[in-house]
Amino acid sequence: MEIREIKPEDLRRVFEIEFSSFNTPYDPLVLNYLYEVHRKTFLIAYEKEVIGYIIGIIDKEEGHIISLAVDKDFRGKDVGTLLVKHLLRIFEENGIRKVKLEVRKSNKIAQNLYKKLGFFEAKELPKYYENGEDGILMMRYI
Ligand SMILES: CC(C)(COP(=O)(O)OP(=O)(O)OC[C@H]1O[C@@H](n2cnc3c(N)ncnc32)[C@H](O)[C@@H]1OP(=O)(O)O)[C@@H](O)C(=O)NCCC(=O)NCCS
Repeated sequence: MEIREIKPEDLRRVFEIEFSSFNTPYDPLVLNYLYEVHRKTFLIAYEKEVIGYIIGIIDKEEGHIISLAVDKDFRGKDVGTLLVKHLLRIFEENGIRKVKLEVRKSNKIAQNLYKKLGFFEAKELPKYYENGEDGILMMRYI
């Protein structure tokens, strides 16, 4: 498996994985914008085809993980872990020392993954999501 920067031809699979992974997926227009503006921190995992991706942005010296998803057939095989580690390395190379992300309170799988990688719960975000669900702000220092 290879982790690399996204290419234009990868976008179709990113839309597919996003739509099959989230109840309220990002609009393809938003994903396209993130690709156009933040492609250095938009990484994909590739094994014969795109099997996962992570989208980060750098905002005022802070890294922000915007989305992470792995194709259902490839979950539980460390792909998500490797995507996060790779992005953290890129943040570090760009002088970033602080990384944040938001996660649904119900998404224990993602919280487990991030905790394993050194993130901690910084604060609760009441009714952060459009369906009224609370979020958790997680952070990590590099
Ligand atoms: C979250 C997600 C990206 C994890 O990707 P993955 O490649 O399956 O994760 P990994 O194999 O690297 O697992 C890393 C850790 O995550 C946690 N984890 C993964 N699958 C889990 C499961 N089914 N149950 C509980 N914890 C789990 C574990 O802590 C695991 O570490 P371990 O293997 O030492 O137990 C994937 O489940 C996914 O795409 N989910 C839907 C989209 C989503 O929720 N994205 C996150 C939004 S913030």
